[in-house]
Amino acid sequence: MKYRHGFHAGNFADVHKHVALLALLHALQRKAKGFLYLDTHAGAGSYDLADLSTRHGAEARGGVTAFTAGPEPAAPELREYLRALAGWRDRPGNAHAYPGSAALAALTLRSQDRGLCCECLPAECRALEHSLGAFRGMRIACDDGYRRLAASLPSHERRALVLIDPPYESAAAEIEQALAAIQAALGRMSNTVIALWYPIKDEDWLQRWQERVVRELAAPASALELWLHPRDAGVALNGSGLLIVNPPYQIEQRAGEWQRELLGRLSRAPGSGDAGGPGGSAGTGTRVRTLVAERAVRHAGA
Ligand SMILES: C[S@@+](CC[C@H](N)C(=O)[O-])C[C@H]1O[C@@H](n2cnc3c(N)ncnc32)[C@H](O)[C@@H]1O
Repeated sequence: MKYRHGFHAGNFADVHKHVALLALLHALQRKAKGFLYLDTHAGAGSYDLADLSTRHGAEARGGVTAFTAGPEPAAPELREYLRALAGWRDRPGNAHAYPGSAALAALTLRSQDRGLCCECLPAECRALEHSLGAFRGMRIACDDGYRRLAASLPSHERRALVLIDPPYESAAAEIEQALAAIQAALGRMSNTVIALWYPIKDEDWLQRWQERVVRELAAPASALELWLHPRDAGVALNGSGLLIVNPPYQIEQRAGEWQRELLGRLSRAPGSGDAGGPGGSAGTGTRVRTLVAERAVRHAGA
């Protein structure tokens, strides 16, 4: 595997994914009862963005750096993201660090919650252990995240949030593996909340697997999508998407709002697409779609 998340850390897709992740964590924390947070593809946990002259950290200019250059955001979800970012950077040695999904979860989980972060590359996993060493509620497994997911459900808490964030070096195979893991996880614990990140660049591929989700998934699901670059732009990544299975109350409605504001902030960065507004004429935009409605799932199970 050639993929190293350090080259992409803090890019627009990371910002999109991490705002959504924090929103999901806070949604599960509306109840006092604890839950399991399971990160199947955790990465290194924290990434040094200090040297913008190298490729390492360069993508962050169009992501977190553009985001933080703007005024105080209006959407609470975006303010929460800024707060978490500042919380991570306030920790010793982290002034120029970007917190990955595992670090954001570590900052957010309460004493009654439990975290399990999996990373299969030994060097990334050692970095993850170093980044999260101070957080007692976080366990790290240098292992295959799908294997750990299968072994962890049902969780004793009977509530879980799972983030599946594969590198997509081989998109077709990886989406198959992720969808199979989602089905298996739901079979073990049907109320599991799952967020699967996916790249938006190949429209046919996207349409094919999302049609399968609509046909085959026996749980409510929605898609949160943001295109920073027009769909026909020849860039490596046009947009960022998240499939949310068992979306908590109001996640979709709120995402409509924060995604629009996020796109506006990111579109001001040099080299970004020219935002034409939601579904805008320039081909950039945001979209929230219900793929499987709760009604349809109840009906099928009746
Ligand atoms: C996109 S990065 C993760 C970024 C991280 N989730 C974040 O948001 O900060 C994907 C990571 O998954 C790791 N990986 C790939 N296949 C894996 C597997 N089957 N189990 C665990 N980790 C895996 C890669 O080494 C890489 O570090």
